[in-house]
Amino acid sequence: MDKNLTDKRIVECWHKNVSPWTRAVRDGEIASRELLTNQAIIDAVLASKPTTVLDLGCGEGWLTRALAQRGILAVGVDAVAELIHAARLYKQPNNNSIGTPPTYQHLSYEQIIAGALSDKFDTVTCNFSLLGKESVEGLFVTFRRLLSRKGQIVIQTPHPLSNAQPPYQSGWRSGSWAGFSDAFTDPAPWYFRTLKDWRALFDQNQLTITQEISPTLEGEKPSSIIFVARSS
Ligand SMILES: C[S@@+](CC[C@H](N)C(=O)[O-])C[C@H]1O[C@@H](n2cnc3c(N)ncnc32)[C@H](O)[C@@H]1O
Repeated sequence: MDKNLTDKRIVECWHKNVSPWTRAVRDGEIASRELLTNQAIIDAVLASKPTTVLDLGCGEGWLTRALAQRGILAVGVDAVAELIHAARLYKQPNNNSIGTPPTYQHLSYEQIIAGALSDKFDTVTCNFSLLGKESVEGLFVTFRRLLSRKGQIVIQTPHPLSNAQPPYQSGWRSGSWAGFSDAFTDPAPWYFRTLKDWRALFDQNQLTITQEISPTLEGEKPSSIIFVARSS
């Protein structure tokens, strides 16, 4: 197998793209996010009225800020120290009040799987941040430990039926920054999962999917899928 197609490599690639990524997210350069998927994940998280939310792979922190503005105690974690630094440094424009500001921890999924987080949350969310193979399988084993009673998992990921490069079977794919600015370099590989294999991951880890939402722009294929799940 290509030695670049690994979970470790994913994080290495994100290290190299901190500045363009932070700019793209904060300046609204990613059209699908602005038009559709940002609001979709916010709505999906808010639907169960959580008090506390853990955002795994939070990047520069936009979702934690959006949730804090709605009164939620949000904690973001990411393996890339520079992204956590950018999240902590963010200054709200025009002194907008954002309730209790989010807090951040520089942690990898592998550290969380090994027990680095002892708190429990009403909702654990992952917005386009479950990209690997073993790290994602390990997180699924860990989710129940991170959830308070009646807690929920809310995961948004590219829709497998719209974003498959043939063949339609789970496996590693090379990354691409097509559609992004030239400032991006070294795209991260990702582990593609079929819809059936995503559902099996929940099932194998005693998590019941309660809702599948497919954000879709008019006349287009579903852009993403949001799985909402709870402990079985
Ligand atoms: C596409 S970005 C999404 C960031 C953010 N959730 C958002 O919506 O903008 C993927 C994020 O997952 C993080 N990530 C990937 N693998 C990780 C791992 N093993 N441990 C922690 N974070 C990881 C990356 O550092 C990156 O910030």
